[in-house]
Amino acid sequence: MTEEQPLHEILYCSLLAQDQPATAVGAIVSQARTRNAEQNITGLLVFDGMRFCQHLEGPCDAVEALMHRIEHDPRHIDVRVVYEGPLATRRYGGFGMGLAESEGPHPMSGVHTLSGDAALAHFLALRSSFDISS
Ligand SMILES: Cc1cc2nc3c(=O)[nH]c(=O)nc-3n(C[C@H](O)[C@H](O)[C@H](O)COP(=O)(O)O)c2cc1C
Repeated sequence: MTEEQPLHEILYCSLLAQDQPATAVGAIVSQARTRNAEQNITGLLVFDGMRFCQHLEGPCDAVEALMHRIEHDPRHIDVRVVYEGPLATRRYGGFGMGLAESEGPHPMSGVHTLSGDAALAHFLALRSSFDISS
């Protein structure tokens, strides 16, 4: 795919809001897939029943606007961007928005305690252990 605009990536972590059932993730992902396809945004959402980690990539303006909406979404709290920066080529070009779910705390919870390059490296290293559905 030829990219028309500079690419940008954002990795953030958050916590499911207390009033939300763990099944809320189904609605979040199906809505996200439709909207992300329209905006040329790809990425991966990881959910362990309590915590989210989402890696978003796509045209800079679209990714930043989406992150702004996500930050204000009451379905999760403690939203913390752990890495953000320009991106040369997509990491998730093969699918729109993958979902990886695990029961119980996943090692990705370590990403929450890191920031910057260390957080990104940790998340990317864990990718092969995710059971991704798309
Ligand atoms: C954990 C989490 C991840 C989300 N990921 C996306 C996403 O990848 N794409 C998307 O369009 N919306 C995503 N949303 C939903 C947005 O927060 C927002 O509800 C949606 O973009 C619609 O925004 P609007 O009602 O202002 O149009 C996510 C929400 C949560 C809680």
